[in-house]
Amino acid sequence: MQLSKFIQRVPSSATIEMAQKARDLKAQGKDVISLTLGEPDFDTPEHIKEAARLAMEAGDTKYTPVPGSLALRKAIVDKFKRDNDLDFSVDQIVVSCGAKQTIANIALCVLNEGDEVILPAPFWVSYEGIADMCGAKSIILKSTIETDFKILPKDLSAVLNEKSKLLIFSSPCNPSGSRFSKSELEALAEVIQEYPNLIVVSDEIYEYINFTEERHFSIGSIDSIKDRVVTVNGMSKGFAMTGWRIGYMGAPLWLAKACTKLQGQFTSGACSIAQAASAHALNSSPEETIKMRDSFLKRRNLMLELLGEIDGLKLNVPDGAFYIFPDVSAYFGKSYEGKTITCPNDLVMYLLENAYVATVGGESFGDDNGLRISYAASEESLREAAKRIKEALDKLK
Ligand SMILES: Cc1ncc(COP(=O)(O)O)c(C=O)c1O
Repeated sequence: MQLSKFIQRVPSSATIEMAQKARDLKAQGKDVISLTLGEPDFDTPEHIKEAARLAMEAGDTKYTPVPGSLALRKAIVDKFKRDNDLDFSVDQIVVSCGAKQTIANIALCVLNEGDEVILPAPFWVSYEGIADMCGAKSIILKSTIETDFKILPKDLSAVLNEKSKLLIFSSPCNPSGSRFSKSELEALAEVIQEYPNLIVVSDEIYEYINFTEERHFSIGSIDSIKDRVVTVNGMSKGFAMTGWRIGYMGAPLWLAKACTKLQGQFTSGACSIAQAASAHALNSSPEETIKMRDSFLKRRNLMLELLGEIDGLKLNVPDGAFYIFPDVSAYFGKSYEGKTITCPNDLVMYLLENAYVATVGGESFGDDNGLRISYAASEESLREAAKRIKEALDKLK
């Protein structure tokens, strides 16, 4: 049987493959510490679960409107106003089965074959996969640890042209943990405003895991470009609700309508019960989210301390999310037992086989020098993982 050209263009997700390899080793009895997945290790707060139970009991178990229940869309409108200074009406909000579907919806609605998608690197893996799926061309805009993995306005200006259709980035960023400040986003907006056909997808799913004193800033609140910015967010990270599968966007009306049409043929509305719980979560006090953020901050500091003791790792200080992304290029060319490390993926395999610690190579994120380590794990696991990583890296000569 011949698979469609469409599915042949779709790459499989590198982070999910790596997590599977780690699970296979675990099944063979190896004590693998997996620091691969982008998932808070906390359980969903109890009051949110209770809202789901109440929704079920109240019979909130039917199809919702395709773009989401009115209650959730109203909660999202309020959230955008309260936290982001963004003004949307309910018909500009579309709720989907995770922010991943939100981003795929947007791409499928605006991209034609050959369009260019600008991806500041390192980027979240799925952006490239989704662009590939649409037959678009990814333009990877590299950054380095020296600029804290943030592109500069001149970098953006150098790649934009009339074929540039989408600019997609996350801030705080998966995998680097970097976040753009208000002034940095304002400087980028000055370049963007020169390209009226460019649509900006601002993925703010790590908004609430912000370790800085500066309030999160949404590029969509900048007047000169706000009509072309789609603000994406979701419940997975800030509320520890990965399995509930709720993501959403605030978008120009024409795009919200198109995404609703597409979703109407694919999945219809997201799960009614998860939507009710999400509306409750967004309308509630952020106490639990702040507690989780504080725990991530403690772990970030722990990882900076422990990994900071390893000479060959170059580190930036992640300002948000729950990843650390060391530059590991100092190990390229070094060997152990006849195996030479030439790239981050080699180091990933080396650490998996010799330290039983699973990480993800920077190649998946468009970066040839980095290694993503998720610290959404217990302090005990993180200490043990860092010790094993150090021992294994010390063996490379
Ligand atoms: C930057 C970023 N955006 C979007 C998502 C998708 O999240 P979900 O589909 O769970 O809402 C993730 C998940 O890892 C992510 O890291």
